[in-house]
Amino acid sequence: MGKVAIVTGGAKGIGASISYTLGKRGYSVVIADVDEEAGLYRLEQFHKENIDSLFVRTDVSSETDVKNLMDEVYKRYGRIDVLINNAGIGFSGRSIEEQTLEEWRKIIDTNLTGTWLCSKYVINYMKRNKERGGVIINIASTRALQSEPNTEPYSASKGGIVALTHSLAVSLSKYNIRVIAVSPGWIDTSRWQYPPKESRLTNLDHKQHLTRRVGIPEDISSIVLFLVSDEASWISGVNFVIDGGMTVRMIYLDENVIRDSLSILLDDEELSGLLIKLVEKAKSDKDSVKRLLNSLVRDRGDIY
Ligand SMILES: NC(=O)c1ccc[n+]([C@@H]2O[C@H](COP(=O)([O-])OP(=O)(O)OC[C@H]3O[C@@H](n4cnc5c(N)ncnc54)[C@H](O)[C@@H]3O)[C@@H](O)[C@H]2O)c1
Repeated sequence: MGKVAIVTGGAKGIGASISYTLGKRGYSVVIADVDEEAGLYRLEQFHKENIDSLFVRTDVSSETDVKNLMDEVYKRYGRIDVLINNAGIGFSGRSIEEQTLEEWRKIIDTNLTGTWLCSKYVINYMKRNKERGGVIINIASTRALQSEPNTEPYSASKGGIVALTHSLAVSLSKYNIRVIAVSPGWIDTSRWQYPPKESRLTNLDHKQHLTRRVGIPEDISSIVLFLVSDEASWISGVNFVIDGGMTVRMIYLDENVIRDSLSILLDDEELSGLLIKLVEKAKSDKDSVKRLLNSLVRDRGDIY
């Protein structure tokens, strides 16, 4: 019997890609997701590709569901080697004055409490074979480390996951269980949605990354595959930021940012150079630049 991996939120997005990658490498994969329709669709896809897989409808924020998940998986396979705590929900982005306690609780319950609950209830099974032990991977986010405005519940849930990761790693080393966080940056999950969607990204989206492209779920699956393997047996308690370099790119708002943004957006050095000259001119003589732009817009009635 090969290794058994549970992937929460494994029906769609990054979780589906992780499930597929592990399944293709011989793991028996358990998709634990609240979305039954998507879960069954994914199961059918996996079975067609001879991936040994099981779907267990699970809401990770429900203690009853999580206990049932672990029991059912153990009953079916007699072992649990890997847990990927991936299930998560985002936040619509309203200001803190408008955020409700209900919204805050839903996000913390799903993202953070769900990770804690699944970890808590998998231990009993992972620790049964001390030599084999186990691996828990917690999918956090670069938003654990940096923020846009109005993201408090999501950022806090992900920051909590990073802290929970090192705390669990220290507590569970006695059972030979490694615990690692992976923090993705911007990942385009369109192809792994249910049903799959077309990507709608722009040049600007891609080129602002040091790697010149937005991430795809496979960028995360490949590091997860490595981290759960024996080759990574010396790694525990840390947080891997996988983000195409976005987090290390320090941005102060200055002319260089404007120049770079225009050049990426327009993909035309001459035009962006001219616009920068216009901005330079506007700094010392706003009125004449306004007159010039107004006359340009007026002459082009189709812009109005
Ligand atoms: N996509 C990104 O850019 C990105 C970036 C950083 C971190 N992440 C994190 O990666 C993880 C996956 O994100 P994604 O973009 O693939 O999202 P997604 O919405 O495409 O997939 C999330 C999956 O989790 C399931 N789910 C939601 N609530 C659940 C619950 N209570 N119980 C069980 N399953 C539940 C959904 O049904 C879905 O299948 C999340 O934790 C997310 O916060 C994503």
